[in-house]
Amino acid sequence: MRTQLVLSCLVFVCIVLCEVVAGAGNVLRNNFYKSTRCPNAEQLIRNITWSKAKNDVTLGARLLRLHYHDCFLRGCDASVLLDTEGTEQSEKEAGPNLSLGGFDVIDDIKRQVEAKCPGIVSCADILALSARDAVSFPFKTSMWEVETGRKDGNVSLASEVSSNLPLPDSNISTLQQLFAKKGLNVDDLVALSGAHTIGFAHCGAFSKRLFNFTGKGDMDPSLNATYAESLKKSCTNLANIVEMDPMSSTSFDSNYFNILINQNKGLFQSDAALLNDTNSVNVVKKLQNDKAFFVEFGKSMKKMGAIEVLTGNAGQIRKNCRVKN
Ligand code: HEM
Ligand SMILES: *[C@@H]1O[C@H](CO)[C@@H](O)[C@H](O)[C@H]1NC(C)=O
Ligand SMILES: *[C@@H]1O[C@H](CO)[C@@H](O)[C@H](O)[C@H]1NC(C)=O
Ligand SMILES: *[C@@H]1O[C@H](CO)[C@@H](O)[C@H](O)[C@H]1NC(C)=O
Ligand SMILES: *[C@@H]1O[C@H](CO)[C@@H](O)[C@H](O)[C@H]1NC(C)=O
Ligand SMILES: *[C@@H]1O[C@H](CO)[C@@H](O)[C@H](O)[C@H]1NC(C)=O
Ligand SMILES: *[C@@H]1O[C@H](CO)[C@@H](O)[C@H](O)[C@H]1NC(C)=O
Ligand SMILES: *[C@@H]1O[C@H](CO)[C@@H](O)[C@H](O)[C@H]1NC(C)=O
Repeated sequence: MRTQLVLSCLVFVCIVLCEVVAGAGNVLRNNFYKSTRCPNAEQLIRNITWSKAKNDVTLGARLLRLHYHDCFLRGCDASVLLDTEGTEQSEKEAGPNLSLGGFDVIDDIKRQVEAKCPGIVSCADILALSARDAVSFPFKTSMWEVETGRKDGNVSLASEVSSNLPLPDSNISTLQQLFAKKGLNVDDLVALSGAHTIGFAHCGAFSKRLFNFTGKGDMDPSLNATYAESLKKSCTNLANIVEMDPMSSTSFDSNYFNILINQNKGLFQSDAALLNDTNSVNVVKKLQNDKAFFVEFGKSMKKMGAIEVLTGNAGQIRKNCRVKN
């Protein structure tokens, strides 16, 4: 009788402990969906993303930037995907969006995932995974690890954008501050800026450096003058777009760092600013080869992908990535 009581007490304590441990496990982890009713979710998302990336070399850039904006605004909770509802504008309507794209692609992936297993895979995870997969397509292997288990948030406010997202003319101290607010250090700032090895920018994001840097019709002296002249030719209209990493804008590689430090070809002031601090310039030097860049980028993406995430019972699995349930 007594032994039985002690035994059942032990079992009870064990169950409580296990619950506590499982509760503490409400964090992101590798292969979160393996143990759900949608065990092949990650493979499915990769298959769909790769089939899209095959026909669109710019997809990786769009999805990567979308994921970054999502993580910097209320954490990686797919808030950037929400459409405006009511009168308060949502994140995607804010000024610095300067043409965010890829919303249609996320919608389509979500639709296909919901068709296979409804209500299990979050929009936030779909965004994190598809960004990785689209960038990785040319390599036919995953270029960094994405932990999963994010839930979706239900709030998106345009008014929160300006205090969280750096601008293309941000200086090094502002960049460091805004990244530090998200738990990211100088190593992360530099590695993640390397995302500008792919994609395009509108002339409006850097035209001041070409035409009127100090208000006297001058050019930014920290920008390569030859490069600036060719940019001027491309930027007869501020709505025009140019490659961010000239002649290498569809290949994910360390060329961004090479031309930044060796040729003064950082397109934005925020890129050039990485040379303006002894710590960050040392990281730039280190990331000039692909191997180092890939390793550090992967580490920093993992950190960025975990910013203020909703996990466990927090948040929801949106049915439609554009509207909260
Ligand atoms: C460090 C601060 C950053 C600033 C000031 C910044 C600013 C910008 C701006 C102004 C554009 C051009 C948008 C346009 O004109 O259409 C751009 C493009 C882009 N950014 Fe950043 N960015 C930063 C960090 C990041 C990070 C951390 C990532 C991802 C990890 C990222 C990924 C991208 C990508 C991939 C594009 C190209 C998008 C496309 O081609 O559609 N950026 N960024
Ligand atoms: C993904 O594609 C591979 C290769 O085509 C296929 O073998 C696999 O079954 C697909 N997985 C899912 C979940 O669609
Ligand atoms: C970006 O913001 C502008 C307003 O500044 C808005 O007109 C546009 O629709 C937004 N872009 C997206 C993709 O929501
Ligand atoms: C950096 O930019 C911020 C915001 O524009 C400004 O307040 C600050 O003085 C600048 N810092 C330096 C060192 O120029
Ligand atoms: C250059 O900047 C100055 C000061 O901000 C402004 O008064 C002037 O109109 C600008 N010139 C051009 C061509 O935009
Ligand atoms: C500017 O770019 C050209 C190539 O486009 C390069 O030859 C030159 O060294 C660069 N100048 C500086 C100061 O980095
Ligand atoms: C670097 O910093 C100096 C002074 O701190 C400033 O004058 C210069 O404009 C900065 N350059 C860039 C590219 O931010
Ligand atoms: C948003 O979600 C939180 C929990 O994640 C919930 O408490 C809150 O009521 C929701 N708000 C709206 C407007 O749906």
